[in-house]
Amino acid sequence: LSTGTTYENLQVTRDDGVGIITLHRPKALNALCDKLMSEMTQVIDEFEADNDIRVMVLTGSGKAFAAGADIKEMVPRTFQEVYQGNFLSFWDRVAHTKKPVIAAVNGFALGGGCELAMMCDIIYASDKAVFGQPEINLGTIPGAGGTQRLTRAIGKSNAMELVLSGDKIKADEAKQMGLVSKVFPSENLMDETMKLARRIAAQSLPILQMAKEAVNKSQELSLQEGLHLEKRLFHSSFATHDRKEGMTAFQEKRKPNFKDE
Ligand code: CAA
Repeated sequence: LSTGTTYENLQVTRDDGVGIITLHRPKALNALCDKLMSEMTQVIDEFEADNDIRVMVLTGSGKAFAAGADIKEMVPRTFQEVYQGNFLSFWDRVAHTKKPVIAAVNGFALGGGCELAMMCDIIYASDKAVFGQPEINLGTIPGAGGTQRLTRAIGKSNAMELVLSGDKIKADEAKQMGLVSKVFPSENLMDETMKLARRIAAQSLPILQMAKEAVNKSQELSLQEGLHLEKRLFHSSFATHDRKEGMTAFQEKRKPNFKDE
């Protein structure tokens, strides 16, 4: 990361191979204005290109993860502007990250905030987290995956209820529905997220990327195509040093020494 780069709406730190992006726009509960999202895209590009970064963590400061797209910015926009500029499409950068990304949802994750969390690979939540797709209350619908990723995550009836009513759910309910994988007391959220991030960061990066690609494709391909892709990626792992090292280390009852090769 370019030394000394400061961001208007983000705090960016690194810790042991983990790149941490903290949404920090306190006056608007980290609402995802254009500037914030373009800063995030820039940081993700840098982390992706940086060999020292193996895993990313996305979290929010204060009582919000993110309270959604910036409503005040959207008020004056016209159909022509959002359609011709393909508004929100560049947010997909987060979903297209090759390195693993963990969302640590500390508070409100509403609208675009919930959608952003769902673009990450794993969602950990604090017991203060609140999820929802309240766009219906604004006379619009989710525009960054809330009708698609949410439905795949929690099923049609649950997703339909949230999207049509605009109701919010708390962390335990989100856990029960399968939206988040674990819930922690808020003071432990970052510690637990970092523990997971460091364990993942200790694995072979190209193999992590194969695993991530295979799981993500399960959301898009038929079962036959998905199983075929998985098999080919599994076969590809045999072309790596790290596959041989991992299995040899098991046989020799020692820890593997992965080289990302
Ligand atoms: N955009 C712009 N500003 C926002 C915002 C948003 N999404 N959410 C909160 N803010 C601002 C508020 O306007 C307020 O600013 P002012 O003090 O200048 O008025 C400040 O953040 C603090 O917010 P509140 O006073 O409302 O805080 P609260 O604790 O009373 O309520 C909340 C918290 C329930 C999250 C409430 O702020 C809220 O409902 N926010 C909007 C949530 C929402 O509708 N999100 C969906 C946005 S649309 C979208 O995301 C489209 C998409 O699919 C991508």
